[in-house]
Order: sequence, then structure tokens, then C-alpha cells
Amino acid sequence: MIIIGCGTSWHAGLVAEYLFEDLARIPVEVEYASEFRYRNPIIRETDVIIALSQSGETADTLAAIELAREKGALVYGVVNVVGSSISRLTDAGSYIHAGPEIGVASTKAFTGQVTLLTMMALQLAHSRGTISASYYQRLLTELENIPHKVERVLACEPQIEYIAKEIQDSHNALYLGRGFNFPVALEGALKLKEISYIHAEGYPAAEMKHGPIALIDENMPVIVTATNRNAYDKIVSNIQEVKARKGKVIAIVAEGEKTISEMADYTIEIPETEDPLAPLLSVIPLQLLSYYIAVGRGCNVDQPRNLAKSVTVE
Ligand code: G6P
Repeated sequence: MIIIGCGTSWHAGLVAEYLFEDLARIPVEVEYASEFRYRNPIIRETDVIIALSQSGETADTLAAIELAREKGALVYGVVNVVGSSISRLTDAGSYIHAGPEIGVASTKAFTGQVTLLTMMALQLAHSRGTISASYYQRLLTELENIPHKVERVLACEPQIEYIAKEIQDSHNALYLGRGFNFPVALEGALKLKEISYIHAEGYPAAEMKHGPIALIDENMPVIVTATNRNAYDKIVSNIQEVKARKGKVIAIVAEGEKTISEMADYTIEIPETEDPLAPLLSVIPLQLLSYYIAVGRGCNVDQPRNLAKSVTVE
């Protein structure tokens, strides 16, 4: 499978790579549509291309789809806007039906895309027999619990607003995550850049030591999404590395977590879930954090400067 998209849709594609590979054992490449279309990619007739787009009109994604179709691959669209160009150009597809997304910075489309891709990965895993029947049932039941857990994440709003005030004057921010939470770190950084104009970078937590660690000092907020059950100890040591350099740690942890909460400067507790479903919950505090930082800085969160909701030019 090759997944293509731009911006937030590309981040949803990265989550899908983890899902399809982990659950359904299907090899996946995730590509920026703009790179894919110009780099003479290898596309086989047996490949499935999944094109992700909220608007269904993004020029680079459309051109990448045309290329994939010329090469004879099957193109599956995951789109929000009904009747959009991408929905008409693809061989098959699903709408996420998230309703009109008004704010330029995509939020509910990300949730819709990741939910849909999770369901696809689960169905594929089930029919290919790559996960046990009991794990499949557990993930399905947990997926049904997600809306209720999202409500509990939203209840953290006052605390997130408080943390936003504490860090809103920063010039830079670093977002870290591992595994399923790595694409979430990228998405958190993108949201902050888009609406608050603070420079932010997302990194896989373990890659921090290969560069970004040089940036850490007492003025650098480091937002760590640390809800993983897998690799928990590794995340703890990544946070220790940040604290040793006086970085300001804002940790997103599972409810009841103790070790990280004691080390972090600020903690946001969200309900526990299965690792493959973590992005559906962990992205929300990051979106809210960006929102309150942007509001605190007097930025227009719905119409950020220089950005367009639908990018119909190259
Ligand atoms: C623009 C928007 C982003 C969006 C990206 C891809 O840059 O500002 O929010 O993620 O386009 O858009 P799409 O409609 O293809 O998902």
C-alpha cells in the first residue's frame, strides 16, 4: 500500500502506516503527494494507493492520484467533502462524513481519517487472520468507547488553558512521541505552527539525541505524548534527558500514571486506551493547547495568516 496526502492528511497517513503494518501486516509507504508525483515512484498494478484529503481538492494529491491510475494501481480515496474532485477521480473510497470543517487548521478531519483507517486496518487484520479474535473484539469494543473517552479528554480543557498561558510566550517548542504517538507529535507541532506562529518541531522521542537535544534549555517547552504502554520505560528516560537539560516538560499521560507525572512540570491525564487507538485521544490535548496558546497570543485561530483551507495550486 502507498498512502499519499499533504499536511494533516499526511500525518493521518503515518498513523495508518503503524496500524496497517502492526495489525494487518501489510507493508505501507507514506508519501507527501508533492514528492511522490515528481520522483518517478515505483507503482505496481498490484499496489493499492490510499489518497487522504479533507477537501478532496488538493492539487498535489490530485496529480499523484492521476499518476497512480496511469500506472494501473487501484486508488482508494478517503475524503471528507462529498462530490469533491478526489472522490470523483478515485476507483473506490470512503467518506469520513465529518461535516464541513470551517477552521483552516484541520482537526476533526484528522479524527475522522484516523477512525476510518483504524476500522480498515481492523477489518483487514481480521480477514487476514493477523490478529487473534479476542484482540480484534477488544479493539472493536474499545473503538466504541472512544467517543466517551474523548469527552473525558475535553474535560481537561481548563487545565490545558492554564498550561497554555504558562508557555504562550515561548519562541520554540518541541513535540515528542514514540510508536503510535510519533505522528501525533508531528501533528501537535503542525497545529502550533499553523495557528500560533510559534516555531515547533515534532520528533520521534528517541531521535531527540541526534540533534534537537542541543536546543533544550529552560526556555524550551517539550511536549511529550507518553500514553504508550509499549516503550513506557524508554519514554521515561527520554523525559529524564530533557529534565537534565532544564527543559520544561508538558506530559500527556494515561490516568493514574505516577512516574512521569512526578518528573514533568505539567501533566495532562487522559483516559487509558489500547496503543493502536491512542492517537484518537492523544491528539486532542495538543489541538487544545495550540488553540489556547493562539488565543492567548491574540491570533485568529480560524483564519491563520498565509494558509488556505483548500490548496488548489502547486
Ligand atoms: C492545507 C490545509 C491543511 C491541510 C492540507 C491538506 O494546507 O491548511 O489543514 O491538512 O491543506 O488538505 P486536504 O484537504 O488535502 O486534507
